[in-house]
Amino acid sequence: MNQLFTPYTFGSLTLPNRLVRSATAERMAVPDGEIPQKMMDFYRRLTQGGVGLIITGHMYVHPTGKAHPEMTGVYSDKLLDGLSQLADVIQAEGGLVAVQINHAGLKADPETVPEPLAPSAVVDERLTNRMPRGLTVEEIEELIDAFGQAARRVKQAGFDAVQIHSAHGYLGSQFLSPAANRRTDEWGGSLENRMRFLRRVSAAVRAQVGPVYPVFTKLGMQDGFDDGLTLEEGAQVAAALKGMGLDAVELSSGFGSKTLTSSRKGVRRPKEEAYFLSYARAVREVTDLPLMLVGGMRSRQVMEQLLADGEVDFVSMSRPLINDPDFPNKLRAGELERSGCISANNCWAREMDAGIACKCPVEKVDA
Ligand SMILES: Cc1cc2nc3c(=O)[nH]c(=O)nc-3n(C[C@H](O)[C@H](O)[C@H](O)COP(=O)(O)O)c2cc1C
Repeated sequence: MNQLFTPYTFGSLTLPNRLVRSATAERMAVPDGEIPQKMMDFYRRLTQGGVGLIITGHMYVHPTGKAHPEMTGVYSDKLLDGLSQLADVIQAEGGLVAVQINHAGLKADPETVPEPLAPSAVVDERLTNRMPRGLTVEEIEELIDAFGQAARRVKQAGFDAVQIHSAHGYLGSQFLSPAANRRTDEWGGSLENRMRFLRRVSAAVRAQVGPVYPVFTKLGMQDGFDDGLTLEEGAQVAAALKGMGLDAVELSSGFGSKTLTSSRKGVRRPKEEAYFLSYARAVREVTDLPLMLVGGMRSRQVMEQLLADGEVDFVSMSRPLINDPDFPNKLRAGELERSGCISANNCWAREMDAGIACKCPVEKVDA
């Protein structure tokens, strides 16, 4: 049976189909992180395309955690009005929306965060080209609380769920990674210690949003270098998520490298799709949490097979929905078998607050 357009309920959330828009930074916010009208319009358009759940681009939970100048903020109650309006715009179109909350850590924007904060003061060109300052224990506690307060705002603003970013080399990834986290106190060393930040952030979030509000994480399963987080360790973290009170997990990579990038280029054929499938296989064995998998999902055939084989519960996508927000509706109507996205990574905004857009030439792709 085809499952892509069947509903799925977990906890208090029922998604109308199995397609999730993975968090994608819009690069549209004004300098203090407020949401401009064009971002409201962008999300209205995305919702109309029929995706089952939208996860917003990452939003910074603390002024020191801003990753780029046009990143949306969730660090203060002064942002609540704009956040509520965004939730309203999406829900008025019948959409469901989660907010991804994040702190950039050592990957903070140099213009707005002159001194990046990180688990350890390590300069390593694979991680960053700037010298970060190692967090004090008091600062770690402050950032954990900032994640909790951000989640409280997400719920208060009326969003349907919250996702804790713990992938792609941002602060959550940095704590998990032995390459970035060289601490010798209870926040570093053993995997249990490196996991402590995620455990405490999850607890702070849960304490703020209550027992039934949906909380997910996007987990970086593996870094792209030998002394980083290994896939075996990533699976152990995934195994612990249910005990942390989380309701679902989306899988991606941690720190990237030349050979391991979260947004892989050149996904053109079905066999190149679902490029993190090994992560789903490792995680299915250790947890029964609902599973979202991102990375190169492009064709109906591959997506349906993943669902039919029970490899995943949801198929997450980023670039195909920049290429065409109507891709879900076109799949449902049988108008398309495959996304027109050629994974060339021409979607990042080149100018300040210009916003993401597909700048690839339109090309016929093989089904
Ligand atoms: C323009 C752009 C912005 C992104 N922003 C985020 C983000 O804010 N948070 C996140 O977790 N991943 C982000 N990603 C990564 C995607 O969510 C996704 O993991 C990756 O692109 C692989 O999926 P895809 O092959 O469907 O694009 C971004 C990707 C792109 C192309």
